[in-house]
This record gives sequence, structure tokens and C-alpha cells, in this order.
Amino acid sequence: MSRLDAASLLSRSPPPTKPHRRRRLLSSVLAIGGGAVALIFFVILGSPSNPSTNYGSLLLSLGSNDTAATHLRALTLHPHVAGTKANSLTAAYVLDALSSLSFPAHITPYSVLLSYPVHRSLSLSAPGRATKPFSLSQDTYPNDPYASAAAEAIPTFFAYSASGSVSAEAVYANYGREEDFAYLASAAVDVAGKVALARYGRIHCEDIVHNARAAGAAAALVYTDPLEYGGPPGEGSFPDTRWLPPTGVQVGSLFRGVGDPTTPMWASSEGCERVSVEDAMATDDMPGIPALPVSAQDAAEIQRVLGGAVAPADWQGRDGSPVYRLGPGPAVLNLTYQGNDTMATIENVFAVIEGSEEPDRYVILGNHRDAWTFGAADPNSGTAAMIELAQRFSVLQKHGWRPRRTIIFCSWDAEEYGLTGSTEWVEENREMLSTRAVAYLNVDVSVVGQGLLPSTTPQLDELLLETIKLVQDPDNSSQTVYDAWVKSSVSPTIGRLGNGGSDYAAFVQHVGIPSTNMAFGEGPGYPVYHSLYDDFVWMEKFADPGFRRHVAAASIWGIMALRLADEEIIPFNYMSYTTELEAYTKVVEKAIKGTPVSCSPLYNSIKALERAATSVDSERKDIQRELSSKQLSKDSIKIRGLNDRLMQAERAFTNREGIFKQEWYKHLIYGPSEQNDWDTASYPGIADAIATARSTNTSASWKLVQHEIHRVARAVTQASAVLSGNLT
Ligand SMILES: *[C@@H]1O[C@H](CO)[C@@H](O)[C@H](O)[C@H]1NC(C)=O
Ligand SMILES: *[C@@H]1O[C@H](CO)[C@@H](O)[C@H](O)[C@H]1NC(C)=O
Ligand SMILES: *[C@@H]1O[C@H](CO)[C@@H](O)[C@H](O)[C@H]1NC(C)=O
Ligand SMILES: *[C@@H]1O[C@H](CO)[C@@H](O)[C@H](O)[C@H]1NC(C)=O
Ligand SMILES: *[C@@H]1O[C@H](CO)[C@@H](O)[C@H](O)[C@H]1NC(C)=O
Repeated sequence: MSRLDAASLLSRSPPPTKPHRRRRLLSSVLAIGGGAVALIFFVILGSPSNPSTNYGSLLLSLGSNDTAATHLRALTLHPHVAGTKANSLTAAYVLDALSSLSFPAHITPYSVLLSYPVHRSLSLSAPGRATKPFSLSQDTYPNDPYASAAAEAIPTFFAYSASGSVSAEAVYANYGREEDFAYLASAAVDVAGKVALARYGRIHCEDIVHNARAAGAAAALVYTDPLEYGGPPGEGSFPDTRWLPPTGVQVGSLFRGVGDPTTPMWASSEGCERVSVEDAMATDDMPGIPALPVSAQDAAEIQRVLGGAVAPADWQGRDGSPVYRLGPGPAVLNLTYQGNDTMATIENVFAVIEGSEEPDRYVILGNHRDAWTFGAADPNSGTAAMIELAQRFSVLQKHGWRPRRTIIFCSWDAEEYGLTGSTEWVEENREMLSTRAVAYLNVDVSVVGQGLLPSTTPQLDELLLETIKLVQDPDNSSQTVYDAWVKSSVSPTIGRLGNGGSDYAAFVQHVGIPSTNMAFGEGPGYPVYHSLYDDFVWMEKFADPGFRRHVAAASIWGIMALRLADEEIIPFNYMSYTTELEAYTKVVEKAIKGTPVSCSPLYNSIKALERAATSVDSERKDIQRELSSKQLSKDSIKIRGLNDRLMQAERAFTNREGIFKQEWYKHLIYGPSEQNDWDTASYPGIADAIATARSTNTSASWKLVQHEIHRVARAVTQASAVLSGNLT
């Protein structure tokens, strides 16, 4: 049991200051060092429900590593892919865990198009060489406690791969990026009709296979190169070290869209309109060619038989790997894949803590539950943290805590197939969420190693930073998570939510709800990702020995939720949004240099946003003063009005028509771009327009860039109008 020692922190602090100082202290939080942590902590987290209890410090003191470990072990006894009996049992487990804490809980099911392997085979041959069939299985190890459960794991496959049989020469395509296929074309290596062999490490499997098909490949294999997944040569692999064993295979989904493919812009509600499975499988978002993920061991075997030119240095593997050649041939691969793309039932689980004063305002916490295999890191480290946090909230309730706003826990299904469970629910509840959701706090993987990796929409930056100054570093009790984070890199950065990485996508990119995402780990990837070895042993031995990082993740999640749910004025600060937008605009400005395009509309709109953010901040201070001098009651309509503006300003960044050619993506600041060749996941519409204009260099294409800049500027202007609350 590890209790975060908030009580002893507090005992070293002066008595709490008078309430009227609260705001001033809050705004100076960022400037104060670690020594003032306890003081700020006490002042910020003063409770609305019961003035004598500090629910924030209570929440921090209740952390239990044993609870997190117990739930993680129970959730990861068996592999549990979406749509299977095993995953239905995890839904029942989460439902039971949350309802036994006396939170009203329920399951919302959807019928959606999922995909399962029925038959796979792969063999390697070459002139004068015996045909070698691959077993396509991941080895267990002596005394593997999960060896018998491993037999229940879904055979390694790519969801939504086309079915078919291809026998053709192999070509090596490095990371499978557009530039890699362009290199092959320039080296006169013919990819048409061949089987492309590419490695993970730079882009997602769905994009690798998409690029392979675009280059004319008849089929694709994607493998986990020891260079990225195997660790230093000679160091060994799991279960001795954290590295992926040679037979490890990374499973994934090849669907490039989001949600249920049979309901592309709407929810999979009962009796709803649906695209036929055949039509859904025939869209450009589907891979359209057979593909399989393979192990490093199998890929090395193929590499040894490949001929042709030696691949460039940055296409090679680590020491000890064979020399990689480009092909084509003489290696011939015979790949057969038969899949079953079929309607299946998925289950989202919800538990609700109803708000006492504003029950129709929602603070939503979400994590997915379905896993490609055991899911110890991805995603159930997050599920375990969520249940552990729910348990702490139930203790707070016993101490009299009633959140001002409603808190909703969500356990999503079928995230791995295409963020499916969360997407269908957000689509089904879009207008309700749009008018009522204050924030969405996502945790997918909560732990794969040491060090916090936070992401937010920028109005939540300040809340995040204040929060991590309160939570003890799980790896060094004499400092906070903030201290560790600042030390960990030269310039600690908060990530943004512009990619389709997890279940925040529908909340941010479709509806425009302020959101966060976080994990502990050295980087976003980890060696056993989506393989058979993402199990409890790996977690306990290598990712979180002692389970203190799980507890810290739950603490950060919980303090942010508590403040968002409890504070009279929602703790959003739009000033950092203006800083971010300015930085993105500078990147655009550089990219359009020497063209007739101008960024002035965008700069002007950001200036207006800055003025609105400043004025809303002084309005907040006024209300705070009136609140503490009791001139204003906590349920004043004035407070509700300010909060509505803070909540709705993010929505203004969305646009009904959405991003050009990607209409589901409504957010004009954060979203995926088709061809973002400059290094930021922001302004996707502008990014795509610039990429097109650069390649065509027509005046019409540059006009389109200007149009996209105007569109974003209009959205930013709308956001400042919402914030200031003034009609023209
Ligand atoms: C490819 O493998 C399949 C399945 O093992 C087999 O039926 C087929 O004959 C093979 N094709 C070629 C061209 O070797
Ligand atoms: C595909 O899945 C459906 C539903 O689970 C099942 O009824 C059907 O038999 C499966 N088809 C194949 C070819 O396995
Ligand atoms: C733990 O944190 C303290 C305070 O920041 C620091 O002085 C110390 O070096 C850290 N210990 C380790 C092992 O990093
Ligand atoms: C929880 O932390 C305590 C104290 O550090 C430790 O003894 C215990 O083994 C931890 N529990 C787990 C499941 O790791
Ligand atoms: C694009 O076109 C403009 C005007 O037609 C020309 O001046 C410029 O050099 C072109 N740029 C490139 C990169 O080809």
C-alpha cells in the first residue's frame, strides 16, 4: 500500500489563508517553486461541500497501489478483444466494481462492424530453395503463468484486412512512408503486384498498408524490427528484459476512419440507417489488400533471401540483423488471409456521480477496456487506475463530498478497431454533450514506464500544471511529478490532441470539448505494444514495479476531475490558447513565405482572443471577490453565465462543414491532416491546403490556402465572441 503523503506535506505548511486570497494565490501558482506546494494545495482545494474537509488532500491520501494491482490482475487474466465473450466479462467486471462502490452504473451496447481472422498462412520460397511455412505464432516461455490463457489470444492479424491469396516476390519498403515508396520508385524497384515488407516505427500500420497499396503492392507485411523493439543487441528480451521477444507480433487495425464503418457520420443506434458491410469494406478508409503483421524473426528470414540492391544505411537494422536488401525477389511470399468482417456487439460501461448543484454539467473521465491481447498496459493500466480512483471518490462521498457538477466514468469498448465505442456514444449524444460537457479527461495506457507524458487542449494547461505540483513523483518521494517532469527534458512540453491516438478524438475533434490525455512512460511507444507479452508479468516486472505510477496517474486524473467538478468557476485559462495559436501561426507564416498568402487575418483573430481571455480573467477575479465577500451566492446565474462561456469557447473552434474532405473532423485547430509535412498536428485544413499548393503551385491552390486561413481566423473570432459574451 502506498499512500501519497499529502498529510505530512500539509503539516509543514502555514495555516490556510483567508478565502479572499484564493484567486491571487491561484494565479501566482506557476511562479512559485515546490516549497509552496502544500500551501497552494490547501488553498486551491478548499471544498464546496463541507468546509471542514479538504477533499483534495483526502483524495491524494487515499491512493492504493494494491487496489490498482488487484484490478489490473483481474482484468488481464484472459485476452479480451472487442466483441468477444471474454471482453463482455470485463464489462461485467467493471460494471460490478463501479456499482459496488454504490455509483449508479449501466452498459450501453452498440452493434458495429468488427473484424476477426479465420485463416492465415504465409510461406517463403525462392528458386532452388524449399518452401518454408511460417507458424505465425508468438512463443510462450518456460513457467509463463499466462501460457494457457495465451492459447485463447486472437491469432495475429490486421483487422479489416482484405481476404485473398497473393503469391509474389517481396520488396523491402523500410517504414512504409510515402517517401520510402518514392525512394523505391526512384531506385527503379518495382513494387507493383509485389508483397511489400515494411517495419513499424514511424507511422501507423493502417498508413503503411495504405501507402503500400497506393504504390501498387498486392499485399503487405509489417514487422517489429529489433532496432525499435528489440533493445540493445545482446540484452535479451521478455521475460528477462522489457524488450519484445523475436516471435513477438504487433497486431492492429487497418481502418483509417473512426467509429463503426457501417455508420460513418452517425451513431450505431438500434434500427439506424446503415451502409452495407460490402460497401463499408469498399471505401478508401479500408486497406483493400491482404496484409499481416509478422515477427522480427520471420522478417529476418525473409530479409536473408531478398536480393537486389543493398538498402540505404537508414533502412538497415541493428547490429546482428541481416543486411537488408530492397528486392524485388528472389524471395517469393505466398500469403493467404481469410477474415470475417462481421457485426458484433460492443459494450460501453458508465458510472455516474450526480452533481449536487449543476447536475446538467458533465466532467467526463474515460478509458477503453478492450485489448488486442491481455492488455496490461494497453489499456487496462488505465482501467485499473480508473477503478482505483472511483474507490477514492466513494470514500470522499462517505466524508460528505457532493460534487457541484456531475462526474461520469466511461469504460469504452472497441477502441482498438477505430475508437469505435467512444465515437458511437459521442455521435449518439452529440447535442447533449455539446451543450453540457465541461471537459473530457482520457487515460488510455496509464503506465508503460517512468515520466509523465501529458496532453491537453490549452485552456487546461494551467490546471494540469497546478495539479502535477500537488502529486508526489511515484519514483522519488522528495519531489513532485512536476519537478520530475521539468527535469526530464530541456523544455518539458505538453502534447496536443490533434491526432487520432485515443478516445479523446470524438470529444475534441468532433464536438470541441476541452480534453486531456496522459500516461507515464519514457515515450508514447513501448516494446511489447499490441503483442502477446503486454501482460501482468511485464507490467509488474518492468513498467510499474510497486504500482506507484498507477496511483500517481489516478491522483492526477482525480484532482483535475475534482477541481473541474467542484470549483464555482471552471478552471479554464484561455491565455495559453493564444500563445499556442500564435506559435502555430508562425509555422504557417514560414511555410507560406514568398507566396501571395497572408496570415494577418489569423493574427488579428488571435489578438481578439487574447483581449477576450484577459477580460474574462478579470471578470473571474471580480466574481471571485464577490463570492468571498458573500455579495454573490454560489448558484448565481452570473457564475453559470461565465462558466457557459468558458465551456462553449472551445466549441467555437469547430465548424459544421468540418475539415476539407474530412467532414467528420469539425475542429479547425486540432485534427489529423492528410499530408501534414510540417511538424505539428495543428490547423489540419491549412496544412493540407499548403501541401497541395506546394506540389501544384497554381494560383487557385494558394487561394485555397488563404481561404483555409480565413476559416480558422473566423473560428478563433467566434471563440473570442463566446468568451466575451458580447453581440456586435
Ligand atoms: C500458396 O499457399 C496456399 C495455402 O497454403 C496454397 O494453397 C497455394 O497453392 C500456394 N500458392 C502458390 C502459388 O504456391
Ligand atoms: C463470421 O462471424 C459470424 C458472427 O460471429 C459467424 O456467424 C460466422 O459463422 C463467421 N463466419 C466465418 C466464415 O467464420
Ligand atoms: C529526488 O528528488 C530530489 C529533489 O528534487 C533530488 O535532489 C534527488 O536527486 C532525486 N533523487 C533521485 C534518485 O533522482
Ligand atoms: C505497494 O507498495 C508497498 C510499499 O511500497 C509494497 O510493499 C507493495 O508490494 C506494493 N504493492 C504492489 C502490488 O506492488
Ligand atoms: C510558383 O509559381 C510562382 C508564380 O507562378 C513562381 O514565381 C515560383 O517560382 C513557383 N515556385 C515554385 C517552388 O515552383
